[in-house]
Parts: sequence; structure tokens; C-alpha cells
Amino acid sequence: MHSTFAAIVVRKSENRFIQNIEERKISDLPDNDVLVKVCYSSLNYKDCMSYMGNLGVTRKFPHTPGIDVAGVVVSSKTKTHKEGDHVFVVSQALGMSMPGGFGGYVSCPSEWLLPIPQGMTLKECMIFGTAGLTAAFSVNEILKSNPEVEAAEIVVSGATGGVGLLSIAILAKLGFKVSALTGKDYANELLLLAGADKILDRSSMNDLSDRGLLSPQWNFAIDTVGGSVLSTFLRSSRQESTVIATGLVSSQILNTSLLPFILRGVRLIGINSEGKNINDRREVWSRLASEWKPDNLGVLANEVSLGDLGGSVDKMLSGAHLGRTVVNLNLI
Ligand SMILES: NC(=O)c1ccc[n+]([C@@H]2O[C@H](COP(=O)([O-])OP(=O)(O)OC[C@H]3O[C@@H](n4cnc5c(N)ncnc54)[C@H](OP(=O)(O)O)[C@@H]3O)[C@@H](O)[C@H]2O)c1
Repeated sequence: MHSTFAAIVVRKSENRFIQNIEERKISDLPDNDVLVKVCYSSLNYKDCMSYMGNLGVTRKFPHTPGIDVAGVVVSSKTKTHKEGDHVFVVSQALGMSMPGGFGGYVSCPSEWLLPIPQGMTLKECMIFGTAGLTAAFSVNEILKSNPEVEAAEIVVSGATGGVGLLSIAILAKLGFKVSALTGKDYANELLLLAGADKILDRSSMNDLSDRGLLSPQWNFAIDTVGGSVLSTFLRSSRQESTVIATGLVSSQILNTSLLPFILRGVRLIGINSEGKNINDRREVWSRLASEWKPDNLGVLANEVSLGDLGGSVDKMLSGAHLGRTVVNLNLI
């Protein structure tokens, strides 16, 4: 084990935040149960917020972001984990209030760690990451209502983003036909690789009128952007349909009508992956490692080093990012 390691450190300097790769010591980390050598992390929207110094995500700086980690246990104070175990942490406070995966080592409470599921590599686990866990919980909500696979009309927004693309890929793996709603006219190849059946321009589901009901189209919608797109999904949902709200990239405000709920029995379900208990997490991870695992998972992600990560953050914040970005801590 090295006593120092490279990490991205975000520091507050007067009125702005600056990000650099610094050499950190193991002794800089909090003294938790398990020390993990990070092999891979991944980039989520929340990481970008922490990276830019958003105080709603991270209160104390200097800070190392990275909410997703897959790696190998180096030392453990508990019997539940031993040196050499392949483990991961996803969607906990790691990388928000505690130094995260954009550095060579993390120190974690043991209850946050799960074993890498059988049938999944460390890297695959990070291709899923928090985005994949959120997609999996969203798909689970769809499956709970026993939909007819052939007949279900499903739409997913933010389709080229992490949560959106993985939702499409998991649903396609399960045989569903999914419409991908995107703002990018250059991402058809990726969306088709993920398994999208139809590709819709974002403007086609962005009704700004005050009509309470729109022509019914969807049995299920997974929304990652919020605002007027979520409102349009609700108003264009069919009888007894389900809309799943996971994100707010466009807006956290929802101005909409009650008519879809009262006249069409539409259900609006929110997903908070961080709040899910360990048993529910274990269950969806074991499915992600088996029957829900997209055949071409690898093509949905690109791999970067810590040094390249800033460019990926810029792309994600400007809405130009494609798919998932995995951070390989062994790349220089
Ligand atoms: N609830 C949870 O537990 C949970 C967990 C993880 C993430 N999230 C949230 O889910 C959202 C998506 O996360 P992510 O990691 O998938 O982010 P992401 O990879 O950046 O994807 C977001 C996608 O949204 C679309 N988009 C970007 N700007 C937009 C705008 N102004 N209006 C409409 N669409 C826009 C883009 O896709 P297109 O160009 O294809 O439209 C973009 O790729 C975020 O709000 C994140 O905080 C929630």
C-alpha cells in the first residue's frame, strides 16, 4: 500500500472554487472501518455539482468528490470485510460529505460497502454506478405493475444521460420497446446501441400550454429532467399509467394540472436511490449483474483518467455529455 495517492481536490479560494490533482496522504482520510484502494469511479451529475463547489451537495471544502467507488479492501477493522475483497459503494454520503472516489483511496463505514456481484466486473459496476442504480429502481417500479412487454409504450427523457441511457438499456434487455427523448440530434447511434426503439426530439415533449390533458401516449415514463418535460409526460400519459421522476437537470419546478391524476389515474413516483435500504439495493444489483445486464454495456461508457475528468464535467454541466464516464484510477 502506498502512503500517498493522487486525488482531485476542490478548494475554495476567495469567491470561487478551484480543482487540482494533489498528492494526499492516507492519514488525510477519515478514520472509518474499511480502507479501499479505488480502481474505478464514475461521473454522475451530483459529482459535477460537488466538483464546482455546490454547497447543496458538499458543505465543507477542501473536498474530493466521487460518489461511486469500486475497488479492493486494503485494511478493515470489522469482520465483515477482509483484505483483498472486491467491493463497491454507490449512492451514499461518500464523495459528498466524505472524500470520495476521485482519489486513489477511500475510507468507508463498512455498512456502505457491498461485494461486487457475481457476474459483474469492477468496471461494469462503475458503468452502472449511481446512475445505474437509479435506472434499476425506476425499471423496478415499471415491473411492479406487471406490464405487457409487447404493448407497453415507454418514454425516457435525458436519454443520452447516465440515468436515461441505462434505463433504456435495461428496459430493452427485458424486451420493452422504449422511446428515447433527447436534445441531441447527433446521438442516434448511441441510443440505438442502447436499444432505443424510437428517438424523439426533446421539443416534441415540451408542451408549455395550460392544457390539463394532452393526447394519451404513454403507459410509463422515466423522467430525469423535471420541469415542462415532466409536466408533458404527466399530461400525455394514458389511463392508469406511471410516471417516474428521478431528476431535475432542466428544472426542479413542476407546474402542472391535477387532471391526469384525477381523470386518468396517473401515478407519479419519485426515486431517491440514496434512501434505498441495503436489501433492496442488493436485490437490484444482483439483477443488474444477471438478467437486467445489457449485452453491450461496455459501449455505453467511456473511460478517463483523473486528469481528463475536468473536460467530462464541463460537458455534463453544459448538457453535452454522452452516456457514462468511468474514471480509471490506474490511468495516469
Ligand atoms: N433520484 C436519484 O436518486 C438520482 C440518482 C442519480 C441521478 N439523479 C438525478 O438525475 C438527473 C440525471 O442524472 P445523470 O447522472 O443521468 O445526468 P447526465 O448524465 O448529465 O444526464 C442528463 C441528461 O439530461 C439531458 N439534459 C441536459 N440538460 C437539459 C436541459 N436543460 N433540459 C432537458 N434535458 C437536459 C441530456 O440528455 P439529452 O441531451 O439526451 O436530452 C443529458 O445528457 C440529475 O438531475 C441527477 O441529479 C437522481
